[in-house]
Amino acid sequence: MSEKNGSLILNTDQLGMHLAEPSMDELMHDYAQIRHVYAAGIREITSRLEVLQSEFQYRGRHNPIHHIESRVKTLTSVIKKLKNLGLPLSIATAKKSLRDIAGVRVVCCYVDDIYRIAELLLAQDDVSLVEKKDYIESPKANGYRSLHIVVDLPVYLSEGKVFIPVEVQIRTVAMDFWAALEHGIRYKAPADVPAVINEELRICADIIAATDDRMLEIFKAIQRLNGEDGTGKE
Ligand code: GTP
Ligand code: MG
Repeated sequence: MSEKNGSLILNTDQLGMHLAEPSMDELMHDYAQIRHVYAAGIREITSRLEVLQSEFQYRGRHNPIHHIESRVKTLTSVIKKLKNLGLPLSIATAKKSLRDIAGVRVVCCYVDDIYRIAELLLAQDDVSLVEKKDYIESPKANGYRSLHIVVDLPVYLSEGKVFIPVEVQIRTVAMDFWAALEHGIRYKAPADVPAVINEELRICADIIAATDDRMLEIFKAIQRLNGEDGTGKE
């Protein structure tokens, strides 16, 4: 606070205002301008996955995709993540720093299908890998398993081509079952979850992973019996 020509001058901090921080209205306006481009990135990835799905169906081959989900991050989640990361609150920062504004979840039947889907997406010559986290090879301490890849791919706007990052989480139905329930439990749980509960969740995740492996072995055995495993009996 200072005094100038006898009048009291308050700085913006003392008024509880931060001029650099945009208002909620501004954030909503700015987010609406980019949201549709991320939604287009999601449609692009989803459409490519659906093309693969219909090709597998047409050829009578095993369809690795059980189902696909997607979402554009809500503005509330964007704000929360920027705050957690200690980043300036602006849509320009979100665009620059967040790679999961567009998210697609591919739920597969078997563990091998996960890697097959990632390989098929990354083999497309306009899709490039930005980041990969393999929580199947290295599960999280709580037992969480999934393959996460962030890919960059083009979206064509009226003013030209823009590259959009899309986070693709690929997991089995079994991994998805665990993740969905764990997510719900975590939301309801107090901040300091007793270690025994975390341990119990990890044990469940390990049992589910062992079941996933056994289901894959059953599937492979059936494929061998049907001569569909590339051994030439087809
Ligand atoms: P976020 O800030 O959540 O995006 O984390 P991150 O940037 O470190 O990325 P990470 O790959 O760890 O997680 C990204 C997303 O994967 C999360 O938003 C969840 O959708 C999912 N995920 C990661 N860890 C867990 C987990 O322990 N349980 C469940 N249910 N989902 C998880
Ligand atoms: Mg995320």
